[in-house]
Amino acid sequence: MHHSMYDDIEKILITKDQISLSVEEIAKKIDRDYEGKTPVIVSILKGSIMFFTDLVRNLTIDVNMDFMVVSSYGNSTCTSGDVKIIKDLSQSVEDRDVIIVDDIVDTGRTLACLKKLLMERKPSSIKICALLDKKSRREVDLAPDYYCFDVANEFVVGYGLDYAERYRNLPEIGVLKEEVYQG
Ligand code: PRP
Repeated sequence: MHHSMYDDIEKILITKDQISLSVEEIAKKIDRDYEGKTPVIVSILKGSIMFFTDLVRNLTIDVNMDFMVVSSYGNSTCTSGDVKIIKDLSQSVEDRDVIIVDDIVDTGRTLACLKKLLMERKPSSIKICALLDKKSRREVDLAPDYYCFDVANEFVVGYGLDYAERYRNLPEIGVLKEEVYQG
């Protein structure tokens, strides 16, 4: 029988319309904050792919797009060495304004470490823009400068977020049925 991703979804948490409205609002804020500037806007793959493409197409300022793949070692000290770069930026960010775009801030380790690492490259500024903020899971002192939605400690998938590399292409954000990840 045909398998639908929706069979595995407990409930839709955030609809397509809610996402696009919020992304438009965030884009307006970024437009205002970076007026006259050309920031380097960095998509942290793979989770931010949907959010990133929707966000940048709503911006009217000039940007340079770039992409990174990182994995964090989950170290609580969070020095720049605690994040492993799998794919690095293709340009220098020295004296540039950098906007890091990610899908979710969970423990906060990945972005806190990444921010430290990129600070060593002497950018003019670094801001973090996240789709989701899961504040209850935070383990380091990090708050996104821009974010769209708060989420509770639920297993969220869709709009870039995966479970075992699936559900990233779901256009909404949903909660995964427990039976799916509990085998
Ligand atoms: C996720 C997410 C963040 C990070 C958040 O990436 O995209 O980068 O984890 O977790 P943290 O706040 O606890 O550090 P993941 O490593 O799952 O890769 P993906 O984006 O390819 O799904």
